[in-house]
Amino acid sequence: MNELDTLVDNARAAFAQAKAPADLENAKAQFLGKSGRITELMKGMAQLAVEEKKSRGAAINVAKQAIEAALTDRRQQLADEELAVQLRAESLDVTLPGRKHVGGGLHPVSRTLERIEAIFSSMGFDVADGPEIESDWHSFTSLNNPPNHPARSMQDTFYVDIDGDDGVPYNLRPHTSPMQVRYAHQHIKKHAAAFEAAAADTTGTVKAPEIRVIAPGRTYRVDSDATHSPMFHQCEGLWLGENVSFKDLKVVFTDFCRTFFESDDLVLRFRPSFFPFTEPSAEIDIQFQSGPLAGRWLEVAGSGQVHPNVVRNMGLDPERYIGFAFGMGPDRLTMLRYGVNDLRLFFDGDLRFLSQFQ
Ligand code: DAH
Repeated sequence: MNELDTLVDNARAAFAQAKAPADLENAKAQFLGKSGRITELMKGMAQLAVEEKKSRGAAINVAKQAIEAALTDRRQQLADEELAVQLRAESLDVTLPGRKHVGGGLHPVSRTLERIEAIFSSMGFDVADGPEIESDWHSFTSLNNPPNHPARSMQDTFYVDIDGDDGVPYNLRPHTSPMQVRYAHQHIKKHAAAFEAAAADTTGTVKAPEIRVIAPGRTYRVDSDATHSPMFHQCEGLWLGENVSFKDLKVVFTDFCRTFFESDDLVLRFRPSFFPFTEPSAEIDIQFQSGPLAGRWLEVAGSGQVHPNVVRNMGLDPERYIGFAFGMGPDRLTMLRYGVNDLRLFFDGDLRFLSQFQ
């Protein structure tokens, strides 16, 4: 075997030994580089005679081409191997279980609100929606809440940096009670003929139309602990008419609680209390007779007979229109229904908690 054939063989062996592209480029430099073996052989031809140069040059070229071909082959081989490794690593295991598509669901408080609406609708109550940014008049004054009442203080109520028409800043409603007067105005306007006919009647034969509504929604107060959140929910209730009494409140609310908790095994207690917009006023407590909460009195709502001043602010005659109002906390009802002990869990947005209600 001549010297050039040996060189080609050595090159092939060196290329075959290269296990990575970088090794191969190093090996290439030894044979084809600027100071590689082929270049050296070329330089060595300087002393040869012209005829010898030709044949020697041709032979070196053949060797060079063979080395280049070997290099190209090896490069391709390494690239193929690399691709094969990559494909193996990225291969799909079609036997793996698929990824689940997690469906969304209703928030537990939304479920409660829907439940409350369904139950009261079935009892003939309208469901009304109102603004969360409210005027001072609707939130307080119209509800017989005097200007110096503590509920108006900055400690309890969030105020907005915009003044209403009366020059008093708007507030984030601290309760849904402003919906009593707001809804009454809307309702009376919508049924103006019926209300006017009743007002004009002197014979006592025209029955006054009723106002029967609930108004669920978000409310806001400067308050935050395990049972208070700065944003929470309330549901207002109002039933006004000619002969609506505390007895009706008791029947309606008892019915509601038993339907809501799907249990007849609970009793209600009306505990005397004070609210500016009702007279007399009562807190409504419930007590389960069985189950984990049995025996404890749980406060679920404020209530009372609508104060004559509030009826007047609705534009109605308090001698004729009497009735009751209540305000309850759907968040509290949700906690009781599902046995949740920290209100903040509802508003943290943690899916580990929320997905349990799906
Ligand atoms: N607005 C009261 C509150 O936020 C709750 C309330 C009490 C509403 C008595 C009423 C009511 O309609 O009659 O504490």
